[in-house]
Amino acid sequence: MNISVPRRVTAVAALAALALAGLTGTSATASPAAAAAAPDIPLANVKQHLTDLQSIATANGGNRAHGRTGYKASIDFVKAKLDAAGYTTTLQTFTSSGATGYNLIADWPGGDPNQVLMAGSHLDSVTSGPGINDNGSGSAAVLETALAVARSGYQPSKHLRFGWWGAEELGLIGSKYYVNNLPTAERAKVKGYLNFDMIGSPNPGYFVYDDDPTIEKTFKDYFAGLGIATEIETEGDGRSDHAPFKNVGIPVGGLFTGADYVKTAAQAQKWGGTSGQSFDRCYHSSCDTTANINDTALDRNSDAIAHAIWTLSSGTTTPPTGTVFENTADVSIPDNGAAVTSTVNVTGVTGNAPSNLAVGVDIVHTYRGDLVVDLVAPDGSVYSLSNRSGGSADNIVQTFTVNASSEVANGAWKLRVQDKASIDTGYISGFKLTFP
Ligand code: TRP
Ligand code: ZN
Ligand code: CA
Repeated sequence: MNISVPRRVTAVAALAALALAGLTGTSATASPAAAAAAPDIPLANVKQHLTDLQSIATANGGNRAHGRTGYKASIDFVKAKLDAAGYTTTLQTFTSSGATGYNLIADWPGGDPNQVLMAGSHLDSVTSGPGINDNGSGSAAVLETALAVARSGYQPSKHLRFGWWGAEELGLIGSKYYVNNLPTAERAKVKGYLNFDMIGSPNPGYFVYDDDPTIEKTFKDYFAGLGIATEIETEGDGRSDHAPFKNVGIPVGGLFTGADYVKTAAQAQKWGGTSGQSFDRCYHSSCDTTANINDTALDRNSDAIAHAIWTLSSGTTTPPTGTVFENTADVSIPDNGAAVTSTVNVTGVTGNAPSNLAVGVDIVHTYRGDLVVDLVAPDGSVYSLSNRSGGSADNIVQTFTVNASSEVANGAWKLRVQDKASIDTGYISGFKLTFP
């Protein structure tokens, strides 16, 4: 008899996870259909956009700054790609320092108009250089992600909107203008804004904005799944285009590979690169060219952007913190015999299991050293929990933390136990999975 039942545990942390209303499912019993996984974003395509932005700068006096011809040419370049891909684009103009500035907004038709997920980046450079890392990198990655949405025919539950901001380098002028001119009712529909400003720094760090917990976790989990350490972004919370969104209460997040702060020895240890040197030695300089990009960082961050956009717009379900699926039926373990299992069925969860799945094991036994205990994922992957360890102690009543992030969450998970030595005996008393 399978008595696996999802049991809801109300935890304070669950409330935090739900702060981003609309980006987090509130039910663990929604459609079990898994959301489509984000595609890999081709690095070559992102780099081609950077080459094109570099050419634009070169043809326009070496920069793409607000009020200069290179900026408008950059906007026209991005807009043409999006128009060709089926986006509804809007060119928004404003005036700053006596010059006309431009924001480009691109809406992907479809999705819930009352649940909008936005991603954006500033497209202007400083006057001293072509601005390829700052911020061709974010602009190109967001553009390629938008094009990937179109190529894949993805139909998210939420409405997707992308933005390229003008005059960021003059004080977040374009993004402030956009937010200030968004009617209150429209602001309320924006359930999240993701910002990407400098994501291919030549001596990169992997920084995640410490803002909305759901967005932050989405990025952190992605990098954790790749085995890449991240740190909280600390080079200035208000220094990019997420600030105007955050100021009106829109949940924000983003990625950053570092500007003029210096990489420490500890950071070089975990990320490679050169300690004692800034993350971007060409920050706001003429040498911020296509040579000023770390391809690995640009590639990983581009893929992380796509992952976040897919995950946060799917509308399907991630269980609230502390959701438990468990089986409390007793299963007797034959002495020195065949393996037995207890099964828990996970349902209603979109995508993969977490990197810190809590596996609760309750085995009553008179000699735990007899026992081989494994967690078996729905696809048959085996995670060893205990292998004849603990000697003559009795019972295994323990919670194991398993990195299950490569496993699809939904399906039948098994606790498999085999008694490998005669005389002492026992039974599985309980097996439960807790989502962090
Ligand atoms: N916005 C800055 C620029 O364009 C770069 C920057 C500095 C930044 N600190 C940041 C971007 C923190 C994001 C987060 O020059
Ligand atoms: Zn910037
Ligand atoms: Ca035994």
